Amino acid sequence: MKKNKKFLKFLISLYQPVKLLSFVMIISMIISQVFDLLKNYIIKDIIDLPNNPNFQITDLYKISAFLILTILLVFTFRYISNIVRTITIVKKQTPHISEYLFSNLSKKNYAFFVDNFSGKISSAINQVSNEIIDLNARITVGFVSLLTSMISSLIILFTINIPIFIIALILFSGIIITRSLYFTKKYLPLIKTSQEYNIEYSGILNDAVLNFTSLKVYSAVDNFSHTLKKKREEANIYRNEASKREFTYGAIANLIYLIVFAILLVYAIKLYSNYLMSLGNFVFFINAMVSLKASSTDFTWSYIKIGEILVRLKNSYELLYEDYNYDDEYKDEIVVNKGQINFDNVNFKYTNNYVLKNFNLEIKDQEKVGIIGVSGSGKTTLVNLLFKFYNPESGKILIDGQDIADCSTKSVYKVLTYVPQETILMHASILDNIKIAKMDASYDEIVKACKRAELHDFIETLPQKYETIVGERGIKLSGGQRQRIALARIFLKDAKIVIFDEATSSLDNNTEFKIQQNINKYFKKETIICIAHRLSTLKEMDYIVVMDNGYIIDVGTPKEIIPKYDKVDFKSET
Ligand SMILES: Nc1ncnc2c1ncn2[C@@H]1O[C@H](COP(=O)(O)OP(=O)(O)OP(=O)(O)O)[C@@H](O)[C@H]1O
Ligand SMILES: [Mg+2]
Repeated sequence: MKKNKKFLKFLISLYQPVKLLSFVMIISMIISQVFDLLKNYIIKDIIDLPNNPNFQITDLYKISAFLILTILLVFTFRYISNIVRTITIVKKQTPHISEYLFSNLSKKNYAFFVDNFSGKISSAINQVSNEIIDLNARITVGFVSLLTSMISSLIILFTINIPIFIIALILFSGIIITRSLYFTKKYLPLIKTSQEYNIEYSGILNDAVLNFTSLKVYSAVDNFSHTLKKKREEANIYRNEASKREFTYGAIANLIYLIVFAILLVYAIKLYSNYLMSLGNFVFFINAMVSLKASSTDFTWSYIKIGEILVRLKNSYELLYEDYNYDDEYKDEIVVNKGQINFDNVNFKYTNNYVLKNFNLEIKDQEKVGIIGVSGSGKTTLVNLLFKFYNPESGKILIDGQDIADCSTKSVYKVLTYVPQETILMHASILDNIKIAKMDASYDEIVKACKRAELHDFIETLPQKYETIVGERGIKLSGGQRQRIALARIFLKDAKIVIFDEATSSLDNNTEFKIQQNINKYFKKETIICIAHRLSTLKEMDYIVVMDNGYIIDVGTPKEIIPKYDKVDFKSET
């Protein structure tokens, strides 16, 4: 129940900028339907008018003019409702949804992005916008308009003949209620499962497109096409089963309707032949029974469709909002003046095996520490924990004496900056890719950072220079160029603690040397952690830590460590 309440709150938040417009959209539709009711009354009167002893042809003109006016009003209000829905609301609501959902991703922890396909996440975000557009249409054109039209028909039946009204009321409310209940219990769960398969399918498809070259090179495309086909088929099984149930129920409801209608028709003919019902009323009764059937079917159909949309929205909501949340915005902001780091008895495992075991390390402010160790020894894991991507199982990580577990993630990010082991760029210009480190940076600042990262000269050789688009994930740049973009970012951002995780591994010796010099020159007051495989990279460090299998096995100055481990191949796993 609490979950549903949260989902409802989420839905309401999607309507934040269009509350008034949504009201106008629905009210206009209701008004249009009320005029529609009036129109039916007028038609009924037109049929009965010639039976009136004082009937004059001018009356017929007058009432016909009235009919045209009423129909005009039906159209006008319907038109207003549709314009508000399809133009004004879409214009305001969908951008709001995109912004709202995307910014919420910042509350998600690292594991969320590790555990979910990126395609799955983006398709969930997209789906919310599309489903909301559909929901607005279903609610107004389907639900509200059909409900008012059914109520109007019933009101007229009430004025014509009370027993007919009561039977019609029981018949149609019976059909609607049982059908809705049946559908909620038997149909929606199937739609939910089918939808889960669909989201999964989008994720796999996106991932496959992203890795298409690998699939092609290894001749795995056909195999993968088959996997995709299977996934689609799985999703279809549930949808087809749901449709079968819907049709079976629809057929039974139609049969009951026909039987009741036939009985009522006989009764109405009897009334008409005994002059107890006028011709207008008789025609209207038939008209009401036919239109009530159509509206009630359409009504339950829109109810079903609205239910389906809500199920799909809820699936997206659950993915985007439940679990994997940091939930630590309320925590204190970390205050960092010095930049001292302490790993205090830290134990950590991703799954079964401990990656860090009773790990202790103190890095004083402005110290420059190198970390080496074989592949898989836990070096990047240290960075992951420092960034709060994961939490230690036990032990503490302190920055300037404050346990980062007690501080908001956002504030921790402000004091750290790093060059990751693998730089993945956005499909945007070089300028925009660097700018994410400091969104208000001036062009000159960016150029300065690029010069320090030994990137500026290369950029100047490109026809579009800083506006060059780097391709998806940065595919149009070399590994070393991508790495230097990440380096330019750290020269741009002011942070007390700077981390390099194999930051120069793809660079030639000469470029690496120049960048090292710039790092030493421009990060004098910062604390530096430099993870590397190549020992030569760490010559300028204050000391070097050697890791193995989650432990520190040696510590010393570069002069002590480099000769000692010179022959060790740190690139292979133990
Ligand atoms: N997200 C994850 N989920 C599960 N296991 C992980 C995850 N990330 C890393 N590991 C495992 O944790 C261990 C340590 O990984 P880590 O990335 O810290 O090694 P590393 O020292 O940085 O290695 P390399 O030199 O190759 O970069 C490895 O055995 C790795 O398989
Ligand atoms: Mg690593």
